[in-house]
Amino acid sequence: MFVSYLILTLLYFQTAVLARPEGESIGCDDYLGSDKVADKCGICGGDNTGCKVVSGVFKHTLTNLGYHKIVEIPEGAIKINITEMSKSNNYLALRSRSGRSIINGNWAIDRPGRYEGGGTTFTYKRPNEISSTAGESFLADGPTDEILDVYMIHQQPNPGILYEYIIPEANIISPQLPPHRRPGKSSLL
Ligand SMILES: *[C@@H]1O[C@H](CO)[C@@H](O)[C@H](O)[C@H]1NC(C)=O
Repeated sequence: MFVSYLILTLLYFQTAVLARPEGESIGCDDYLGSDKVADKCGICGGDNTGCKVVSGVFKHTLTNLGYHKIVEIPEGAIKINITEMSKSNNYLALRSRSGRSIINGNWAIDRPGRYEGGGTTFTYKRPNEISSTAGESFLADGPTDEILDVYMIHQQPNPGILYEYIIPEANIISPQLPPHRRPGKSSLL
């Protein structure tokens, strides 16, 4: 009795899930039944090779209090996500390479909110609820129009900071700039 019930359940599961008739979902290509989804590069059905996805975790143990550089966001970056892995007394900070502070510069802590810088708008979040264990984050759609440096104002052990940004295909192939304007030879220095 139990066995036949089990078989019926399995059959039902198969019919409902595995042999689900096509045509129920609409893919990112607007076709019915297409399972296509947009990849990280925004390409429908893509395999994340149409752009360069840069991501990592900064988890160095730091000893000195103060500003520590975490990662550099190059010009042309989109979908920027800097997220502290858990709540801490540390703060994220953001500065343009030309020296302008965008968030939490000069030892002043800004409120969570939207901040303009590097040609885009950053949404700065600091989950404040006692119950929340989420850390701080910066998000921006980009594209950035100059190099930005992400810092951490270090006061206690670093829980790790996840960073991710994307360089669209058009920016991977280096543009034909005259030699004095090539990246890395900034005229600001
Ligand atoms: C940003 O990264 C964090 C950590 O990987 C992730 O939990 C979060 O969903 C990301 N946010 C967006 C908008 O991609």
